[in-house]
Amino acid sequence: MNISMHLASLSDKEFKILSNYIQINYGIKMPPQKKIVLQGRLQKRLKKLDIPDFKTYCDFVFSKEGGNEIIHMMDVVSTNKTDFYREPTHFEFLEKELLPMLNNNSSRTMLKIWSAGCSSGEEPYTLAIVLNEFKIKHPGFDFHILATDISTQMLQNGANGIYKEERIDIVPLNLKKKYFLKSKDQNNPMVRVVKPLRDKVVFKRLNFMDSTYQINDNFDIIFCRNALIYFERENQEKVINKLCQKLKPEGYFLLGHSESITNMKVPLNSIKPTIFKKK
Ligand SMILES: C[S@@+](CC[C@H](N)C(=O)[O-])C[C@H]1O[C@@H](n2cnc3c(N)ncnc32)[C@H](O)[C@@H]1O
Repeated sequence: MNISMHLASLSDKEFKILSNYIQINYGIKMPPQKKIVLQGRLQKRLKKLDIPDFKTYCDFVFSKEGGNEIIHMMDVVSTNKTDFYREPTHFEFLEKELLPMLNNNSSRTMLKIWSAGCSSGEEPYTLAIVLNEFKIKHPGFDFHILATDISTQMLQNGANGIYKEERIDIVPLNLKKKYFLKSKDQNNPMVRVVKPLRDKVVFKRLNFMDSTYQINDNFDIIFCRNALIYFERENQEKVINKLCQKLKPEGYFLLGHSESITNMKVPLNSIKPTIFKKK
């Protein structure tokens, strides 16, 4: 085995080529401080492909034969941190304020929610649990969730709905019992989201940087949390505007707790911190 192969170092030249490409096509900022991170993440790809150095890797990525490699590259480049019930005030707002209000306005409601930048599915499945609990108590109410991300690996994980058991520690016990199946393997305890809940979520690859979004639906609520923090402000504004085109009039838009729309030209009014309503 060639040990040095696994420790290929990324020169400034190749870093520039890759970081420019990633930032222009996928929006993710790649300042020079990110070089070591990018190098570390891509070394896994070099190892997998048996490619000795980054110059050869760059040539491969942008060649005809390397067409699919960009998909794998984005799998390792994207930051996918997420959790069930992450930033729980949003789910409390949904359960206690928004759902009762939206459901009051009509006798039959089909609520459409988009989890944009869904990572491995914890966010859309938390939404599905909250919405399904509401559905049980309110006949006539139903919902549909679209979950999108750039990472095919994360989308696959989401569609499988299989997680380490410790990942659902935060889920209340009665909901764990209702919505997750436990594996029998004591050494590696895993859980799987039950099929009826998995069926409520459709996972689809979508790049925020696409000029228009190929989605034939308009949504009542869009969650776009902790995905645009890695984007330049100008791109954040463009993405939020494109997402808002898919939001129904008076629909709701939620950002992560550290994100804001201050000084952006977007068709949203703030109703609570990080919660907005379309104008
Ligand atoms: C940190 S995760 C946030 C997950 C979840 N929304 C949450 O708050 O827990 C951000 C996600 O945005 C996705 N992302 C980054 N750039 C993207 C792009 N250009 N198009 C679509 N998704 C992207 C990443 O792949 C990642 O899974």
